[in-house]
Amino acid sequence: MSRHAFSGLLAGKTALITGGAGGIGSEMCRVFAEAGARVFFCDIALDRARRLEADLLAAGLPVHFIPADVTSAEQVQLMVQQITGDQGPLHILVNNAGISGRPLGDGPVTECSEAAWQRVLDVNLTGPYLVSRYAVPAIIRAGGGAVVHISSDDALVGPLPPYDTHAYCASKGGLIALTKAMAISYAPYRVRVNAIAPGWVASPMTADLHQDPAKHAELVARHPLGRLGTPRDIAMAALFLASDAAGFITGVVLPVEGGATSW
Ligand SMILES: NC(=O)c1ccc[n+]([C@@H]2O[C@H](COP(=O)([O-])OP(=O)(O)OC[C@H]3O[C@@H](n4cnc5c(N)ncnc54)[C@H](O)[C@@H]3O)[C@@H](O)[C@H]2O)c1
Repeated sequence: MSRHAFSGLLAGKTALITGGAGGIGSEMCRVFAEAGARVFFCDIALDRARRLEADLLAAGLPVHFIPADVTSAEQVQLMVQQITGDQGPLHILVNNAGISGRPLGDGPVTECSEAAWQRVLDVNLTGPYLVSRYAVPAIIRAGGGAVVHISSDDALVGPLPPYDTHAYCASKGGLIALTKAMAISYAPYRVRVNAIAPGWVASPMTADLHQDPAKHAELVARHPLGRLGTPRDIAMAALFLASDAAGFITGVVLPVEGGATSW
């Protein structure tokens, strides 16, 4: 029996995962590599990223870190050149890098500062645009592949206060519009483009909320399945959408939120 149920699902594929050193991103790096892909990831958290790369390489998984900020066109272009230059084709892009607006003062539009609005849009929407701009031509050159955007269930239903961070919602909603538009434009080139809309996931991004038992219980109660999401829940959904198992799926938004948008 193979080591992982999904061994070989991404055999022969090369994947780029942005924000790969984060809670969800690091699990995606591991799962994609266990599924047979050669994985490149970028991040701006250099120490954390280098530790992750060392750990996964030591475990025999082909996961390589490239320092790049997704808001810098120059760094993104260089990163894609590095991956495709000497090393061959790129088949999969996961636009996972993102930030929460909460620490920046994001909130309802009447309270959200212009600086918070701009920064959240820069990272969460302009970032995926820039990485797609440079990576999609490489995926087309490879004969096709898959793009997965990591959106949020906040873009499917308006979040209840006090989590009504409008810049974040707008950035993730923009990503859903981009998913559908890209799906149509690149379908002739056999590039599938889909999005995942996670609910609350226990990760460093939401750590401040999980440390407070009352807030944690309140967030759990928002999910019919009675728990928060895990990075693995999101990584497995991304694995499916990135793989040929989802070969006839493009332009969809897959909620991975324990039923939170079904109430
Ligand atoms: N955690 C949740 O509850 C939740 C819910 C819905 C959607 N999401 C989305 O999932 C994705 C991953 O979130 P996470 O929970 O793993 O958060 P995280 O903070 O653990 O990871 C995000 C990673 O992105 C990196 N990053 C931030 N800005 C960057 C930039 N400019 N360039 C490159 N890398 C950058 C960070 O350094 C970090 O490693 C995000 O897009 C987030 O919006 C998370």
